Amino acid sequence: AQEHSLNRDCMTPSRHVLQELNSFAPHAQDLSAIMGRIALAAKLISRHLSRAGIIEGVLGFTGERNVQGESVKKMDLYANDVFIQVFKQSGLVCRLASEEMDEPYYIPENCPIGRYTLLFDPIDGSSNIDTNLNVGSIFAIRQQEGDDLDRRARDLVQPGRKQIAAGYVLYGASTMLVYSIGSGVHSFTLDPSLGEFILAQENIQVPAWGGVYSVNEGNFWQWDEPIREYVRYVHRTPGYSARYGGALVGDFHRILLQGGIFLYPGSVEKPHGKLRLLYENAPLAFLIEHAGGRASTGTRAILDHEPTELHERTPLFIGSPDNVAQVEAFLQGKP
Ligand code: AHG
Ligand code: MN
Ligand code: MN
Ligand code: MN
Repeated sequence: AQEHSLNRDCMTPSRHVLQELNSFAPHAQDLSAIMGRIALAAKLISRHLSRAGIIEGVLGFTGERNVQGESVKKMDLYANDVFIQVFKQSGLVCRLASEEMDEPYYIPENCPIGRYTLLFDPIDGSSNIDTNLNVGSIFAIRQQEGDDLDRRARDLVQPGRKQIAAGYVLYGASTMLVYSIGSGVHSFTLDPSLGEFILAQENIQVPAWGGVYSVNEGNFWQWDEPIREYVRYVHRTPGYSARYGGALVGDFHRILLQGGIFLYPGSVEKPHGKLRLLYENAPLAFLIEHAGGRASTGTRAILDHEPTELHERTPLFIGSPDNVAQVEAFLQGKP
């Protein structure tokens, strides 16, 4: 037991990557180092959040608006800076694209062609920060394609199938990191006494069906009829529970572990929904598919959607395969 617990205490995300991949595989050392940097970013953000209200720079707004037209929270900007600082001297990542930046950030030192790009949502659910409810960070790793000499990062505007890794951090009662490099979905819990994320669960599989449905029913008046029909069906069918936390990462994590479905449909105000493909929907779709679940825009798999711009939004129906299939049936008029 002693041996086991020591071995486990050493199983950090960066070491786990090397266990998942043959340590001598071309990506292995790079991805291992990248995961180590992401873990450092998560620890810095977690520490900042834990002092909300007693230090400056956590609560409240910056007064700016981001490319999404949203009012930026101080924490959005702090977390965005954390990811940039952590990857500046990494020699691994040449570009960072995020919800908070109009254009990708290019690491100034000359980066060799074909390095990695980090796409991320630095703080997801930022409306929860000031009330100490759960928030998250979402990330995806892609391999740079071509030389991007015009710095338009056009190689990033491609389907989610191009992702080589994805994951999220959930800043909740405990701080957890969940990731996949395509061989299973694994979770780690931050042990503050050690300052390390320690392996908690390997090869997480989403239940085939779940009774949790997660959607902002305040938008009911804005939805197309098939979505209203689906929600009316759920309202009259025993066995469902509504759970909506206002932060995608927390709502997703519940469904990954316990099953069910999260929905962010298109609406009158936002015909393509609110959630962004490259750093919210696609990373989570990568994870849910490797956990045996599904993620759909309503008409096709999220990972097959072909974007035309960096901050593109799509509707999102994600979770247990049976629940997602049922929503698609309603959308195709075949309930
Ligand atoms: P972000 O804080 O990164 O902008 O994302 C917020 C998103 C997502 O976390 C959540 O599921 C959704 O906004 C909630 O939107 P509504 O308030 O419209 O339900
Ligand atoms: Mn936002
Ligand atoms: Mn978000
Ligand atoms: Mn965000």
